[in-house]
Amino acid sequence: MSKADVVIGCFYGDEGKGKVIDYLAGKADVAVRATGGDNAGHTIKAGGVKYAMHLIPSGILSGHTVGVIGNGVVLNPSVLLEEIDNLKNHGYDVEHYLKISDKAHVILPYHPLLDKALENTRAAKIGTTGKGIGPSYCDKYERSGLRVEDLYAPNFREKLRGLTESRKDLLKFYDPENQDLERELDFEKIYDMYWDFAQKLKPYVCDAITYLHKALEQGKKMLVEGAQATLLDIDFGSYPFVTSSNPTIGGILTGTGLSASDMGEVYGVIKAYSSRVGEGPYVTELLDETGDRIRELGHEYGTTTGRPRRCGWLDLVALRYAKRVNGLTALSVNHLDTIGKFEKIQVCVGYEWNGTITEDFSSNLEFLNSSKPVYKEFDGNFGDLSGCKSFEELPLNARTYIQFIEEYTGIPVRFIGTGAEREAMLVRE
Ligand code: GDP
Ligand code: IMO
Ligand code: MG
Repeated sequence: MSKADVVIGCFYGDEGKGKVIDYLAGKADVAVRATGGDNAGHTIKAGGVKYAMHLIPSGILSGHTVGVIGNGVVLNPSVLLEEIDNLKNHGYDVEHYLKISDKAHVILPYHPLLDKALENTRAAKIGTTGKGIGPSYCDKYERSGLRVEDLYAPNFREKLRGLTESRKDLLKFYDPENQDLERELDFEKIYDMYWDFAQKLKPYVCDAITYLHKALEQGKKMLVEGAQATLLDIDFGSYPFVTSSNPTIGGILTGTGLSASDMGEVYGVIKAYSSRVGEGPYVTELLDETGDRIRELGHEYGTTTGRPRRCGWLDLVALRYAKRVNGLTALSVNHLDTIGKFEKIQVCVGYEWNGTITEDFSSNLEFLNSSKPVYKEFDGNFGDLSGCKSFEELPLNARTYIQFIEEYTGIPVRFIGTGAEREAMLVRE
C-alpha cells in the first residue's frame, strides 16, 4: 500500500506549485487535482514550451503520469476540452492519461455570469477570477449542482433546463441592465453545447474514488496537486477575500476520497518573497518601487487573468500558520534567483498589533488590516545561481536565507527554485 504525497500553496496562490508538481510527477504514476477549477493557473516550462495548466493536473506533462480530476473540482467542460486539444497538439496521449471523476461538478454558462454580477454588487470587491467558481460551489452546497455523472442521466435535459431558467431569473435580479441575457442563456443552445461536451468527455469519466484507492493498493506512487493556497481557503483564509473551496489538507481529502492515513509527504510551496492577486489584506505588501521591482524581476502577472500581482516580502508568520493548518513536512522555496537580485532582503518574523508583537497568525480581518510587519534583514546579491547544482554550491548569503526559513518554521527545505525552467531546481535529499 503506498501513500499520496501532497503539494499545497502556503500563501495567496501562485507560489510555483506547478513547477514542483512537474518535478515530483517525474516519479509519480498518478497525479490528482482535488479542489478549485480553472481559477488555477499553473505554469510549467518544459522543453522550450510554456504550459499554463488550469484544470488538467500538471503531472500529466511527465508523459507517463495519469492525471485525475477529482470529485472536489468544479469543471468547465469548454476550458477542459481546449486544454485536452492543446496537449494533444503537443503530442500528449491524453486518451490514456486523463481521468475525470463522475462526482466533479460542472460549471454551466450562468456561473461566470453570476460570478461577475455578484462581484459588481459587492461594496468590497473580492477580485474573483470571474470563472464562475463561487456560484458553482454554491450550487454544490445548495445541493442543486450538476455533476459530471448527471450529463449522462435520463433527466439531464430537464435538470439543465431547471437550473438555467431559475438562474436566469436570479441574473435578471442582480444584473437588470444585461440586454444579452436571453441570448447568452438560450437553453436550446446550451443543451446542444453540453450534450456535445458530454460525448467528448465520456471516455475520460470514471469512479475516481475507487480508481485512486486501487492505485494506492497496487503500490502506485501518487501526487495530489493543490490549487490556490492556504490563505485563500474558505475557512482558514482572509474571508471573505478567499476562494470558495478548501485548498488546505482537509479539502485534499474530501476532494479525492483519500483518507488521512493515505497521506505521505505534505509539501508546502512558497516563493522567496510573496504575492497576491485580487483584493484583501496582505501584511507584507510593498506599495513602493521595491514591490514594483519584485513584480518585474519575478514576472508577477496572473497566469489565469493576466492581472499584475501585488508583491511583498516573505511572511514567515503566515508560513508557520500554513504549517499548522496543513501539517507540512517539507518546503519548496521558489524564485531564489529573483530575490537574490536584491542587495538587502527583509523577512517578516512577527506582526506588531495593538502594541504587542506576535508570531501567531490569525485570519481575522481587523487583525490583518492593522498588523505591521516586523522584519529581519538578510544580505542578498546572490549572483548567478544557474550553475548551482546542489545546496552546497549556493553562495553563503543564499544558504543563510534558506537556513533561516528552516530554523523559524522547523520545516526542512527540500526543493529550491533557481529559475522558471524545469531543470532550474535544487533537490535536497
Ligand atoms: P502556481 O499557480 O503556484 O503553479 O504558480 P504560477 O505558475 O501561477 O506562478 C509561478 C510563476 O513563477 C510562473 O511564472 C513560473 O514559471 C515561475 N517560477 C516558478 N519557480 C520559479 C523560480 O524558481 N524562479 C523563477 N524565476 N521563476 C519561477
Ligand atoms: P493558483 O492555483 C492566485 C484568487 C482570486 C481572488 C480570489 C477568489 O494558480 O495558485 P475565485 O475566482 O476563486 O472566486 O477568486 O482567489 N485566486 C487565486 N489567486 N492563484 C490562484 O490559483 C487563485 N485562484 C483564485 O484572484 O482573489
Ligand atoms: Mg497560479
